[in-house]
Amino acid sequence: MNEQITRHQFIRNSAKIAAGIAAGVGVMGAMSSKSSGQTTSWPWPYAEIDAEEGRIRGHLGYYARGCSYGAYHAIVSLLSEKVGAPYTTMPTEFLEWGRGGAWSWGTLCGALTGALTAINLCQTKAAAEKIGNELIGWYCGALFPSDVSNQYAVAKTFRDNRYDKTLPQSSCGSPLCHASVSTWCTFSKFKRGGSERSERCGRLTGDVAAYSIKLMNDELKQQFKALYTTPAVVTYCMTCHGPALRDDTLGKMTCRVCHGDHTGSAPPTSVTADQLPDAAFKLHQNYPNPFNPSTTIRFSIPKDAIVSLIIYDIHGRAIKNLISYEDYGRGSFEVHWDGRDNANQAVPSGTYFAHLFAGTHSKTIKLSLNK
Ligand code: HEC
Ligand code: HEC
Repeated sequence: MNEQITRHQFIRNSAKIAAGIAAGVGVMGAMSSKSSGQTTSWPWPYAEIDAEEGRIRGHLGYYARGCSYGAYHAIVSLLSEKVGAPYTTMPTEFLEWGRGGAWSWGTLCGALTGALTAINLCQTKAAAEKIGNELIGWYCGALFPSDVSNQYAVAKTFRDNRYDKTLPQSSCGSPLCHASVSTWCTFSKFKRGGSERSERCGRLTGDVAAYSIKLMNDELKQQFKALYTTPAVVTYCMTCHGPALRDDTLGKMTCRVCHGDHTGSAPPTSVTADQLPDAAFKLHQNYPNPFNPSTTIRFSIPKDAIVSLIIYDIHGRAIKNLISYEDYGRGSFEVHWDGRDNANQAVPSGTYFAHLFAGTHSKTIKLSLNK
């Protein structure tokens, strides 16, 4: 299957546009002559497309023109083939600027830039905002590269198989390219300029494209369900910095990663520190396990670090942020999980994974909820 719009197709489409303009009619029904100067109606039509093919194209596109192009091209090239015009009328290369968080400035992750642009092309404003919010929230807690992408690489399912080993996985609680890349480099000990880091971002690009497609397919089938909720620490900081009081900032990113806590009483409140700090990094098996409905997780960290402790379901989705990328001092800690997700809904019986990150350390334990 040829992903690129061929020169022939392009000339054909351009000819159709020219003919439409000459005849004074709308091109393929999508043109309207609004006085605002807008030439095509929006949003463009969405049809169900294959998320796994999107993952493979995202990975391939990353190596062609970077993360932003990769994610955008994966989605839009699939829609080009399924829907045809108007998707076939626009080059996908124009998204290249988003690579490395906008020409390597390290701002918004380029894979998100590409995916959010594609989403906003084919969804109404309300749907684009809802899906976009969910995508960014998912990104903050997702382990990249995903298990699926690691497996694709080993099985040589990708179309570019230059690197076929499993790569270490990390999450960083932020949609920023800078935080995402730096956290992964520190954690994995691979260099930013190395082929492993490139491959990691290639797999991530595929993962972002695939998840965006999944969310849009769900929306099409009226099965969209938002899983992400704003972390408690953001809600807490915004009680004073939000519109009700000081109204001097805006954002949903986890505040403590960059600012610490000047109030000394920010969540999580369920964590208690021992007086005698453990010297080693440890994540103990939860107790009790199996559990119903609540369980306790103990861990210790040897030095100050940004910590996250996240519960993932069997599909690898972050369902509960017990600790959301907060600054912790050296010591031993205890967190209780009440078997509820971020939306405060009780989760069903089954296997869950608790993943602890602290600087260069990470560990996962398996939890069984038996109701
Ligand atoms: C109880 C209300 C309240 C809460 C909750 C709160 N702040 Fe503040 N914050 C303030 C006030 C008041 C100031 C201004 C302090 C001053 O001017 O001395 C401030 C100032 C700041 C500043 C400006 C730098 C400074 O120290 O003057 C930052 C950054 C900040 N807060 C971040 C946060 C973060 C992050 C959180 C959540 C962990 C948070 N705040 C929670 C009331 C609050
Ligand atoms: C990715 C890092 C980052 C995150 C996350 C972040 N901020 Fe900031 N914030 C900054 C930077 C950088 C500045 C500007 C430099 C400064 O004064 O610290 C700033 C400035 C501020 C200021 C004004 C500080 C001043 O000195 O006047 C406030 C208040 C603030 N942030 C609150 C928040 C709150 C509340 C959150 C969470 C919703 C948050 N920030 C999340 C990086 C961040």
